[in-house]
Amino acid sequence: MTPRFRPDPSQRLVVLSGAGLSARTGVGTFRGPDGLWALSPDLESAMHADALPGSLPALWRVWGGMAKVAADHGPTPGHYAIARMGAPVITQNVDGLHQAAGSCDVSELHGRAYAAVCTGPDCTWEAPLTPGEGDRAEDHGAPSRCPVCGSPTRPDVVLFDEMLPEAALSRAQALAISADVFAVVGTSGTVFPAAALAPLAREHGATTVLIDIDPPRDPFVRAAFDHVIAEDAHQVLPDWESHRDGATNPFLEPFG
Ligand code: APR
Repeated sequence: MTPRFRPDPSQRLVVLSGAGLSARTGVGTFRGPDGLWALSPDLESAMHADALPGSLPALWRVWGGMAKVAADHGPTPGHYAIARMGAPVITQNVDGLHQAAGSCDVSELHGRAYAAVCTGPDCTWEAPLTPGEGDRAEDHGAPSRCPVCGSPTRPDVVLFDEMLPEAALSRAQALAISADVFAVVGTSGTVFPAAALAPLAREHGATTVLIDIDPPRDPFVRAAFDHVIAEDAHQVLPDWESHRDGATNPFLEPFG
């Protein structure tokens, strides 16, 4: 059996993560047989920008609830291994678990379920949430009306048809271009522009690796990868970490 691919400690590792990395916390995934969108297609349609403001109760319930489940469970072995390897992270996840595990360089492409923002076009009001359960802003420790301009508030999650945060996207592209090893973990690779990052990294000479317990069969998705590891990310990433010495994250040293 061919030995599992492992990045060399001298190689610059960059990680792109998706719902599969956080699934075991209870937040689950989006696609696949027990994915959120598969189980409740109506919810997926509420995730489009043009469904605002009527979709606000669904947004608070889904994203506020997801932030609570993630915060109650905490990071997974995969999150900790990535943090201890000191790898810059690009994530589609909105749960804040990479930062909770100690990752310092995290680009959040799809926003933050643990924060609220104002829906007012020019208003910059934002505030951290106290995630809870319920379909009102107040159930998650936020005002339903912006204290600055009076417009409705919403979870700071990027909806379908909305632009991604510019700073996060340009950082992600710069990381993809500079990577020696670009590891894509627990994502079905169906959502763009995140799904364009592995091909970009490969174009710039990176070795691309997909870690997915049930990898997408779409030849177009798989064509972007030099290696496909069809295993649990919580097995593979700690294994990678245990084979990297000297490259630990100085920030976490006391915790070993
Ligand atoms: N280890 C590795 N991979 C896993 C694991 C695991 N333990 N558990 C699940 N997976 C894989 C699944 O096989 C699947 O391919 O994670 C992937 C999750 O895919 P999706 O549910 O499509 O989630 P993701 O790709 O992150 O979705 C992208 O779509 O709905 C929007 O904004 C939302 O950020 C999200 C984006």
